[in-house]
Amino acid sequence: MTLAVVTLAAGKGSRMKSDRPKVLHRLAGQSMLAHVLAAANALPNAQHHVVIGHGAEHVQAEFATDTITWAFQHEQKGTGHAVAQAMPAIADDAMVLVLYGDVPLLQSNTLQQLLAHTSDGQALALLTVHLSDPTGYGRIVRDNAGHIQAIVEHKDANAEQRLINEVNTGILAVSARHLRTWLPQLSANNAQGEYYLTDIIAMAVNHGVAVNAIHPQHEYEVQGVNDRVQLAQLERIYQSQLAHALLEQGVSLADPARIDIRGQLTVGNDVVIDVGCVFEGHVTLANGVHIGPYCVIKDSHIGSNSVIEPHSVIDQATLAEGCHVGPFARLRPGAQLATDAKVGNFCEVKKATIGAGAKVNHLSYIGDANIGAHANIGAGTITCNYDGVNKFQTTIGEHAFIGSNSALVAPVTIGDGATVAAGSVVTKDVDAYELAVARGKQRNVKGWQRPQKTS
Ligand code: UD1
Ligand code: CA
Repeated sequence: MTLAVVTLAAGKGSRMKSDRPKVLHRLAGQSMLAHVLAAANALPNAQHHVVIGHGAEHVQAEFATDTITWAFQHEQKGTGHAVAQAMPAIADDAMVLVLYGDVPLLQSNTLQQLLAHTSDGQALALLTVHLSDPTGYGRIVRDNAGHIQAIVEHKDANAEQRLINEVNTGILAVSARHLRTWLPQLSANNAQGEYYLTDIIAMAVNHGVAVNAIHPQHEYEVQGVNDRVQLAQLERIYQSQLAHALLEQGVSLADPARIDIRGQLTVGNDVVIDVGCVFEGHVTLANGVHIGPYCVIKDSHIGSNSVIEPHSVIDQATLAEGCHVGPFARLRPGAQLATDAKVGNFCEVKKATIGAGAKVNHLSYIGDANIGAHANIGAGTITCNYDGVNKFQTTIGEHAFIGSNSALVAPVTIGDGATVAAGSVVTKDVDAYELAVARGKQRNVKGWQRPQKTS
């Protein structure tokens, strides 16, 4: 049986007070819809159908590379009407799993369980939850024997039904064959004038189709996002889970409530992370890495026993073992540090390799450069890599020593063991073991009289 995952995402989400469609709002760096699709992707043979309406082009553009069958719901006439828009593209023998694009933290094992309760398409499986305050939700009506009879929406429920605290999460699985029979029978004769998907429950009961309810392991899994307060709450729940998973993997976190992971953080043993760090994309921290407070690290690999001092920003960089970076360093895309390299405070490195044991310790810009092992780049050294139009390369040999405040005008090569005098503007290559002095000569004037005040 193929699995057609129908995700409802046509809603405007007025309470977000946003120009963007609700399902594109971010949780841990990814849109809510991406979280939902990812949970469903863990299910075998899942085929995605997404129902869009408000801001449809924006949603499609963001998922242009995914294999999704889009269904359009131009007017929002209710959840039943929304699912009906996806049906023409779904095979008769498919199992249909209905998800909401604004319920982002649903776990795939919960979905697996739900599907396991469909008896191969014979039964309808419904995800329900008990809430201390069920206001606003559809209530699950059961008979005396405990069998589900119907779902009654809050606005249609009588006083007695409103006391029921088992509610519909909206997530269900049912065969396409059954849906094709039931959806056309829905009517909008209810308090909201909508075609309620929930009315198929009573139809199932009438047709003698079993309705099986299962519950999620955690309540947050079925929490929907209607406004930014709820989105922020789910973000914290999600981040706290990620932090606890890290602690369980043996990472020391100075405060599990003060770390943000927006992507995939892979860690070795005995990693230490101080407060206020943000990890984006794919980041690997090898054994024994220490990250100081308030660092931002994106799509990078930090080699074992490296130390990143506070307030460093690292993006698409690769560090070998034993590196020392920061405080206040910025490693930009293509920065590659070999073993034991050092990049210190207020240094910026872009598209450059820093050789083993080499040091760029203070106030430098190193861009489009290749720095040999054990070279020492003095404070304030700048690689002048750009003439306003083109970029050029700087090459510095092993054990070279670049004096402070030098400007290396690329393209230029400084040989192994060469020395550049402080304050030089180097425009010509320097051979190995030479000294280059490229600055105005010092002149000392004896008996110099300072200017006198004239009036
Ligand atoms: C729905 C359920 C209710 C359940 C609740 C759980 C129905 C009739 N009611 O109510 O039993 O307790 O969810 O949160 O199903 N959508 C569309 N097109 C539409 C209508 C909705 O795409 O025409 C999408 C929305 O964007 C949203 C989801 O479906 O992602 C749910 O819609 P919403 O209006 O929030 O449903 P509720 O009234 O809360
Ligand atoms: Ca509603």
